[in-house]
Amino acid sequence: MSSSQEMPLVGKPLPSQLSPTCPVHGLAGVSESGSPQAQSQHLTAQMQNSLRPLCLSLETLHRVKSRMLEAMERGLSRRTHSQATVRMLPAFIRSTPDGTERGEFLVLELGDTHLRVLLMELSGDTDQRVTMKERCFPVPDAIAQGPGEKLFAFLATCLWEFLDGLHMPQTDFELGFSFPFTCRQTRLDQSYLISWSKRFQCAGVEGRDVVVLLQDAINKQDRYHIKVIAVVNDTTGTMMSCDASAGPCEVGLVVDAGTNSCFMAEARHVEVVEESEGRMGVVTEWGSFGDDGALNDMLSPYDLQLDQASLNPGRQRFEKMISGLYLGEIVWHILTELFSGRMTPVLLTKGSVQTQDILEITDEQVGLATARRVLRALGLEASDQDCFNMQQVCKAVCIRAAGLCAAGLAAIVSHMCRNRELSRLKTSVAVDGAVFRAHAKFSQTLQQLVKQLAPECDVTLVQAEGSSKGIGMVTAVASRLAAQRLQVNQTLALLQLSPAALGTVQALLRREMELGLKKETNAMSSVRMLPTYICATPDGSERGDFLALDLGGTNFRVLLVKVGSREQGGVQIISEVYSIPPHVAQGPGSQLFDHIVECIADFQTKQGMMGQTLPLGFTFSFPCQQTSLDQGILLSWTKGFNASGCVGQDVVKLLREAVKRKNHFALDVVAIVNDTVGTMMSCGYHDPNCEVGLIVGTGTNACYMEQLRNVGTLAGEEGRMCINMEWGAFGDNGCLDAFFTPFDRQVDEASLNPGRQRFEKLISGMYLGEIVRRILLELTDKGCLFRGRLSPKLQTPDIFQTKFLSSIESDGLALRQVCAILEELGLHVSCEDSVLVREVCQVVARRAAQLCGAAVAAVVEKIRENRSLEQLAVTVGVDGTLYKLHPHFAQQVQETVRQLAPRCSVTFLQSEDGSGKGAALIAAVACRVARHQRA
Ligand code: G6P
Ligand code: BGC
Repeated sequence: MSSSQEMPLVGKPLPSQLSPTCPVHGLAGVSESGSPQAQSQHLTAQMQNSLRPLCLSLETLHRVKSRMLEAMERGLSRRTHSQATVRMLPAFIRSTPDGTERGEFLVLELGDTHLRVLLMELSGDTDQRVTMKERCFPVPDAIAQGPGEKLFAFLATCLWEFLDGLHMPQTDFELGFSFPFTCRQTRLDQSYLISWSKRFQCAGVEGRDVVVLLQDAINKQDRYHIKVIAVVNDTTGTMMSCDASAGPCEVGLVVDAGTNSCFMAEARHVEVVEESEGRMGVVTEWGSFGDDGALNDMLSPYDLQLDQASLNPGRQRFEKMISGLYLGEIVWHILTELFSGRMTPVLLTKGSVQTQDILEITDEQVGLATARRVLRALGLEASDQDCFNMQQVCKAVCIRAAGLCAAGLAAIVSHMCRNRELSRLKTSVAVDGAVFRAHAKFSQTLQQLVKQLAPECDVTLVQAEGSSKGIGMVTAVASRLAAQRLQVNQTLALLQLSPAALGTVQALLRREMELGLKKETNAMSSVRMLPTYICATPDGSERGDFLALDLGGTNFRVLLVKVGSREQGGVQIISEVYSIPPHVAQGPGSQLFDHIVECIADFQTKQGMMGQTLPLGFTFSFPCQQTSLDQGILLSWTKGFNASGCVGQDVVKLLREAVKRKNHFALDVVAIVNDTVGTMMSCGYHDPNCEVGLIVGTGTNACYMEQLRNVGTLAGEEGRMCINMEWGAFGDNGCLDAFFTPFDRQVDEASLNPGRQRFEKLISGMYLGEIVRRILLELTDKGCLFRGRLSPKLQTPDIFQTKFLSSIESDGLALRQVCAILEELGLHVSCEDSVLVREVCQVVARRAAQLCGAAVAAVVEKIRENRSLEQLAVTVGVDGTLYKLHPHFAQQVQETVRQLAPRCSVTFLQSEDGSGKGAALIAAVACRVARHQRA
């Protein structure tokens, strides 16, 4: 069922661009189909004088708009909120209906004279169907002005009576409460009455939370279980009543006895609430715009007279120019001036001109007749000219009201467009109130003027279906959001690690390290603790030119590394990046090594080095069992590599064989180095305290300097050796099983190496995106995302890469940018979807960082204990795209290390040149040692 109808657009543009609300220049033209009688009339000089103060040029309306924008900003800012004239009250509505809401919802709408009780049912398989049953109860004076308990008891009794009458089997309901008084709302279901107004004055309610009062009254019986989940303002009710299928409706506008508006703001701009994610409904309370004098230069003498005579002089200035309560009175002031020579007792009486009549008089068909009737009722013998004049007055007043309203609305949509960083904003605006309903031209003028005042926005006015449906919708949306939040929390709880859990991970890794270091237990440990045959860090005396290869991360590089004295500028690097396509990384091993050799040949040719045989350091970022520095048996492939015929082989030998096959040149491989080791060496060149190497990129791993006496797999007691931990495999023996979620298991099963590198699969860039995708699939399946619809795109493995995780979490990223990132991936998302996707990314990345931190803590604590130190100061050399590019990862790792290893002061030093430089330095040290040995 479509619950709203679109208003027809006016075909003709306004005649006067300069004075769109100027009755003197523009009005005759506005009456496109004026009756012949009207056309024969003209404005007298006196009329022109009387109506001129109501002229507002387009320029003036632009001024109103920009002042409204400023006033809105003041209302939104924490600093100026409390003194702002346009209050911008948060309504705690975070979402507009998306059409997936289902269920039965109760509404209590307290009006000035009546209480309306409504049951709204939302049903349907694909399309949402809305059915409503309602009943009105008059509110007696004794209730409206009696003690507070009586009022709330009355509300509850009406509710039960209504429900009893429906004879429904259901007894559990959620309820939305419309309470149209000035309140300080602090949550969707918490609202403190500031002051009563209109007819109401119940003792003992001011300052109290009306939800608690209502809930207590409702709980006095146990037939029905009714939970009050939302308190709603009528303007938000209007906004929320519009059908979701017509596209987003994110603005509500009421011009009734009073006027107000609301819209969905970016939460981070609503500074008075804590939230910074997503959107937040804001009720502008724009009726008081101008109470600080912002409208003084455009007030007419009639506005001044009206204000002076009002109950609240100086207040609600904007409302007094626009809303139904006042339009009749403005006209009355003009008439008393126009007919001052023919004054009658009725005309002298304030309130003798009704807004309803004013609106009718502006009608082209019946307007003049109504004018005559009204003038007669005022005791005036009306000539045709009088009726024409009366009609012009009414039009002038209404068109000015529409113009001002348009300026306000233009301010809202421009604000939304700007703050969402859009070049165009498209939104529906739900309108409601007697003025809209009775006066089609009001909407037409409003629509046309908004177009001129906010040309960057496509605004469609939609007639709302009354606020009760909207209140029901607010309740339904709140209920949907609460149910979804529960699901989301349950899902994400699996990935949230307590400090105790992180401590357990640290202790488990420590145990695995001990097992891995001892010869007898090495096979039981999931971390291999591989000796690297590197016993010292560079001392600065290394010299010469070296070749380096760097294989295993995002890029494959060939490098020429010139190591000079520090005075000569230290290490200089020339390098070239080559790609290794997946079919090469996962094809026959000979093909992979042939490809590597071709890349070296290409590099040498480009550098004019063909024929030279430089010592070569080979960064090979996979687990290798070494028996010397220049030999490494590949234990297993990891990450995206799976070339056949390599595992169990000496990688240096495979490289040499490829060189032989290609017959191009000779290679002098002096060292094979893991990337962690290369990174530690590279950082160690600058900081001698660097005794740990850490990689968090495509894969993850660490190495550190261990006491040789602790390395049971090697002979020797004195000194230290760098140990390549291969912590990526931590947990492969089942010791981390309690920490794996179903998502981790799915990612593992679908990987190239199921059951292997389980810790790496929780942490590193190659897998995080896939974990996120699996969670998103689950959340979509549970209906919390993408309106429950699975897109083929989301079902595509590996669509999220590390760089996506990094960009989506960038600080200060507007929601639009988050949406744009997701759109780029082919996912069509709503604002809430993107907030949730970002939350999932945050949770997954935080867990990764914390696990990584727990592991680093285990390493540094072991170094400290090895050396029997009370306090250890140590530097960790770090590399890897995830660590370097993710906006929060590094900081979360460091924070976790601080918490879990409080006796270690750990400095994290990012490696700038990659581990190829470290490999070359290792080659340089090896050459220096070899020279010494020869000498
Ligand atoms: C370093 C090394 C690479 C290493 C990489 C990890 O810079 O030079 O050999 O594997 O970092 O980062 P990545 O994010 O590319 O996997
Ligand atoms: C490899 C390690 C490497 C790490 C980081 C892991 O998959 O097994 O050798 O250090 O990735 O690149």
